[in-house]
Amino acid sequence: MTNHFSLVQRYEQYVTDKTIEFDTEQWTALQHLQTLLNELHVYGEKLTRVKRWQWKSPTVTMWQGVYLHGDVGRGKSMLMAWFYEACQLQKKRRVHFHVFMQEVHLFIHEHSNQDALPLLAKHVRETTQLLCFDEFYISDIADAMLLSRLFEAFFKEGVIVVMTSNYHPDNLYPNGLQRTSLLPFIALLHEKTVLIELTGKQDYRLTKSDNSATRYFFPLTEQTEITVSQYGTQSNSTIFSFAQLCGQPKGARDYLALAEQIDSLVLTHIPQLSPEKHNEARRFITLIDVLYEYKITLVCSAEVAIDELYIDGKNKNDFERTRSRLIEMQSPHYSNHFSHEV
Ligand SMILES: Nc1ncnc2c1ncn2[C@@H]1O[C@H](COP(=O)(O)OP(=O)(O)O)[C@@H](O)[C@H]1O
Ligand SMILES: [Mg+2]
Repeated sequence: MTNHFSLVQRYEQYVTDKTIEFDTEQWTALQHLQTLLNELHVYGEKLTRVKRWQWKSPTVTMWQGVYLHGDVGRGKSMLMAWFYEACQLQKKRRVHFHVFMQEVHLFIHEHSNQDALPLLAKHVRETTQLLCFDEFYISDIADAMLLSRLFEAFFKEGVIVVMTSNYHPDNLYPNGLQRTSLLPFIALLHEKTVLIELTGKQDYRLTKSDNSATRYFFPLTEQTEITVSQYGTQSNSTIFSFAQLCGQPKGARDYLALAEQIDSLVLTHIPQLSPEKHNEARRFITLIDVLYEYKITLVCSAEVAIDELYIDGKNKNDFERTRSRLIEMQSPHYSNHFSHEV
């Protein structure tokens, strides 16, 4: 349905019917996304079979992607989702970056006797002309070392990459192990993608939430447990403790598998995450990202309020997104799979 509209028209429509507020920076970002979209639609497959510089047409840009960054709640994911929906290419894929990287590492492992990256890029290009990563960040040294060669191979094959991130490219992987190994990748992003920043003062996620409604209960009293367990007995929900989901070595793939199977989740006994609990914090961030992406209704019992969950530690930046999402997930605008509130 939305495919008949341009992104710009869709934005205008939503502003008119007051679904969203007009935001100058989003508007500018949309023009860039629309340009790329038009180009993809006009040239399609051909665009990438011929080297871009061979096109004389002034309408063809030299970019191979868009990198949309800014603080949480600025509308990055929304704009990318619109772009993705409006893109009429068959060969498009939107995937969690960490899941994608697991596939990459597996491919390399299976082709360890050859130069795997160019092979992988060819393989990817056969099915994917447009690759979208929402909430891109790097937390893994193995990924950091690989990224510049990997993306160089993708760009060479003509894969278009659109991503959103809380980080400016220059600030990716802060204080990471051997961070200098990432610098060629950062340079590549600067060279090949359009960087768009959404710097608005508003966190739209927070303005949408309603403080009176909550499915996040604290502290861990008997009453809290009774309340959340009542949610847990409703037909389509699943109960897990924090220790079960985040206290053991689990990752995006496990959470995605879970999210595929449930509508709602009751997550109990979330502790305050002190700096030494950084592994638990990292998993919790990933878990909430996945649940949010799948619009899973979430009920929590926790030791402390959302704002006190993670005061300090090395995942502080990423936790900002988690905090914002936890708040939005309480709002009446967010999906609700429960038959009645407790
Ligand atoms: N201009 C706007 N006016 C009102 N709500 C908006 C606007 N832009 C985004 N939103 C809403 O704010 C929330 C957060 O947007 P999202 O795209 O998830 O932000 P980000 O990915 O930057 O963290 C979403 O529910 C989205 O629909
Ligand atoms: Mg987002």
